[in-house]
Amino acid sequence: MTLNIHICPATLLVCVTCKSDEGPVGAALYQALGARLEGEAIALKPVECLSVCNRPCTVALAAPGKWTYVVGDLSLEAHVEDIITAARRYAAAADGLVPWRERPLPFRKGVVSRTPPLPPSSDRP
Ligand code: FES
Repeated sequence: MTLNIHICPATLLVCVTCKSDEGPVGAALYQALGARLEGEAIALKPVECLSVCNRPCTVALAAPGKWTYVVGDLSLEAHVEDIITAARRYAAAADGLVPWRERPLPFRKGVVSRTPPLPPSSDRP
């Protein structure tokens, strides 16, 4: 099922070009997340590089009207459940701001950046 990222409460962007000492880990993480997110209201989108190449794997959570988070230092072996939990909580948060204590540990320690939402297009000049 393909979800419309313009109305979806969360889009999980996964860098599929991330590599570690173990090899090309980003694509494998993307595949694992795809299998787990089937049927959920979370859009999964592959991206080629989020410019955090020294902290693989890297993902981002984004949605219209919400803060965008980029998070690194994630692994296929240890963090698939944490990524899914974080995406669900992000989807449930109206502004994308999940209280720090409610974030899975890798989403407390691994945040690279957060970016405020753009104003609605009707408010732009
Ligand atoms: S290759 Fe993954 S962030 Fe650059």
